[in-house]
Amino acid sequence: MDIIFLWAEVLVRWLHVVAGIAWIGSSFYFIALDYSLNDKNKLPPKAFGEAWQVHGGGFYHLVKYLVAPKNLPDELTWFKWEAYTTWISGFFLLILVYYSHSQLYLIDTFKLEINEFQAICISLLGIVVGWVIYDFICRSKIGENTVTLSAVVYIFIVFCAYFYSEIFSGRGAFTQLGVMIGTIMVANVAMVIIPGQKKVVNALIKGNKPDPIHGIRAKQRSLHNNYLTLPVIFVMLAGHYPMVFATKFSWLILAIVIAIGALIRHFFNSRHAKKKTPWWTWVLSTILIVFIIYLSNIGKPDISDDEKLASLQKDINLEILLNAAEVVEVHCAMCHAKYPSWERMSRPPKGLILANKDDIILNIDSLYQQVVLSNAMPPGNITWMEYSERETIKLLYQEILKNRNTSSLWQQFKEIL
Ligand code: HEC
Repeated sequence: MDIIFLWAEVLVRWLHVVAGIAWIGSSFYFIALDYSLNDKNKLPPKAFGEAWQVHGGGFYHLVKYLVAPKNLPDELTWFKWEAYTTWISGFFLLILVYYSHSQLYLIDTFKLEINEFQAICISLLGIVVGWVIYDFICRSKIGENTVTLSAVVYIFIVFCAYFYSEIFSGRGAFTQLGVMIGTIMVANVAMVIIPGQKKVVNALIKGNKPDPIHGIRAKQRSLHNNYLTLPVIFVMLAGHYPMVFATKFSWLILAIVIAIGALIRHFFNSRHAKKKTPWWTWVLSTILIVFIIYLSNIGKPDISDDEKLASLQKDINLEILLNAAEVVEVHCAMCHAKYPSWERMSRPPKGLILANKDDIILNIDSLYQQVVLSNAMPPGNITWMEYSERETIKLLYQEILKNRNTSSLWQQFKEIL
């Protein structure tokens, strides 16, 4: 049974990534196409602009009609299933990974005492409410001004990032926010852009003049989707990097990443539109990236002011190893064992076994990342690991590093000199 679930996860993830590539690929393509349209040559009646492209051994001549051409063609290609498939596969993945192991991935009882059922309900409700509030903001008076609207939507998303970081584990909060933004983007396609387009087509078939509000609305939502693309991919990938999602300021890191994603999109949009290239966006993005690295560093578990520290540091070598091994035995071994004693776990997660001292020494780099640089492990601090206990892993890491350094290539090089 276990193997079926593992395979389901692999296959659904595969589908999700491929569908996402198809969706984002086509959306990037159309944005670049839109910006490259020109009206230098004579266009057919009612046409807005044209573009010539070359790809795969042929030339393409594309003409854009803003509302619609005079006569509708018999065959129309719609772009929507890329978005829908991304969402549907993503939702299954959410169930397979986060909902069926919510204690490991979603819940952090240090933040909020909830059970698995409650966690799943909050998550589902959050996804729906996120869309409802976003859609309401867009349709309200605020939606009439693009800049104000963008600012309000940004603040709303940052608020959600903070809110979720207060109730879910670091990793759970990230994925929840990613799913919320992803849902907003797909719902923009399914509930606003495509229905609007359908109404326009129907009006044309009946020989009526289509309402321009559909075009305006679709443009607004497309713009949001365009600027949310890079952040949402970052959020989805970040779940694999504890330094991003499991430190104190993770929500702030998220807020800044959303801004960086938008800045980078702005660079490419302006460039494709052949406007003045905003090189400053890269300077600002670089500064912000340095800042988030700094934030993740100062947000790591605060080991330094633990009183047991002083006594720990006096110990040497073997003692350090014994201390760390004891901590791993207490806090990690129930899951990271050949036969985990943790309920519903039939094999060690990621194949990582921490049964003896050798295992610990061999895996010290990952342990350091998961326990010292972040508090990703134990998941949701489910075993109540204390700072002084994290310190034992840090000391061992430093000890091993010292020994490693002495035999490093550089050392050997110096010896030859
Ligand atoms: C309640 C069960 C549980 C406990 C306790 C636990 N882990 Fe984990 N650990 C997991 C799960 C589940 C994963 C897989 C996370 C994922 O899918 O990315 C994991 C992943 C890891 C990884 C990453 C492995 C890789 O290749 O990506 C490391 C390292 C790790 N744990 C170390 C520890 C350490 C050190 C402790 C003790 C301080 C610990 N874990 C305690 C469940 C646990």
